[in-house]
Amino acid sequence: MKEVNLTELEAAFQAKIDSEVRIEPKDWMPERYRKTLIRQISQHAHSEIVGMLPEGNWITRAPNLRRKQVLLAKVQDEGGHGQYLYSAMETLGHSRQQSMDDLISGKAKYSSIFNYPTLTWADIGAVGWLVDGAAIMNQVALCRTSYGPYARAMVRICKEESFHQRQGFEIMCVLMKGSEEQRAMAQDAMNRFWWPALMMFGPSDADSTNSEESLKWRIKRHTNDELRQSFIDATVPQAELIGLTIPDKDLKWNEARGHYDYGQIDWNEFKQVVSGHGPCNTERIAARKKAEEDGKWVREAAMAYAEKKKARKAS
Ligand code: 3HC
Repeated sequence: MKEVNLTELEAAFQAKIDSEVRIEPKDWMPERYRKTLIRQISQHAHSEIVGMLPEGNWITRAPNLRRKQVLLAKVQDEGGHGQYLYSAMETLGHSRQQSMDDLISGKAKYSSIFNYPTLTWADIGAVGWLVDGAAIMNQVALCRTSYGPYARAMVRICKEESFHQRQGFEIMCVLMKGSEEQRAMAQDAMNRFWWPALMMFGPSDADSTNSEESLKWRIKRHTNDELRQSFIDATVPQAELIGLTIPDKDLKWNEARGHYDYGQIDWNEFKQVVSGHGPCNTERIAARKKAEEDGKWVREAAMAYAEKKKARKAS
């Protein structure tokens, strides 16, 4: 059989990427492609699951039954998004258990945004509107990512994200039409979530260590700064529409660029949060660790049942 060398395999792989052929689990792929996908998809999945915690905190505190129903549905959706993404990750040969161990040990990351507390009901509006709004900007692009199972998971997830963003914006609209206290609560949430939402898109392009390869392999379709700019351009008019002030004194429309200019992001804060020193990092990991321990017996029982069923079938 003709010896096919690595260079030829890598060239053939890149040719597939460049001609927009989706990469599927059984296809040959560079080890680095596999590794960076496991890294990104597992962190994405962790983000969905950890993201349930700040919002879950308000399910019992929602102001009325309708808000409670909507928030329950959203948090439930996020759990499902996590499962789609863990399943996509498993097609790359990485186990859920390993991924969970990496999260609990602090080896694996999850989105920085979920390390901020949700202090008031308006925060739930800000999270839905800004956090899911930012996630949508990023995830719509990921519907065209080169790895098949990831792209297909994204298509399903994006269908639910627009409901998440819409319900958050509606909460902010209602509060901004409310009493002075309610308007102040919404503005306070805006002030605390605006900059952390911009950080969700990752470091600036100059500091992004993975972007160059991810763009070459069309895992990413846009750079971090491009998606961040699209989010700002889309969100500022929404804030202005309902009378919220964006907490950025340098924000202004730049006609020549056709975009908003915006102020300097506090990358020290970003680095602090990403390295585990944000307001809620310890609490979030402790909650995941407890859930993992509490659910151990269920996983063991399910595995024992599956083994028994398999043995009965084989006999
Ligand atoms: N939080 C934590 N870590 C972050 C981060 C953030 N907001 N942004 C970047 N990082 C990390 C990266 O993981 C990378 O570290 P690593 O090499 O150890 O993984 C490092 O900072 C440098 O960043 P890069 O730009 O080089 O990393 P990427 O090329 O991976 O780009 C990303 C970062 C844009 C977040 C990309 O990973 C991505 O698109 N991920 C998938 C989308 C995602 O995870 N979104 C998170 C939110 S999910 C969500 O909000 C759910 C919604 O339903 C509420």
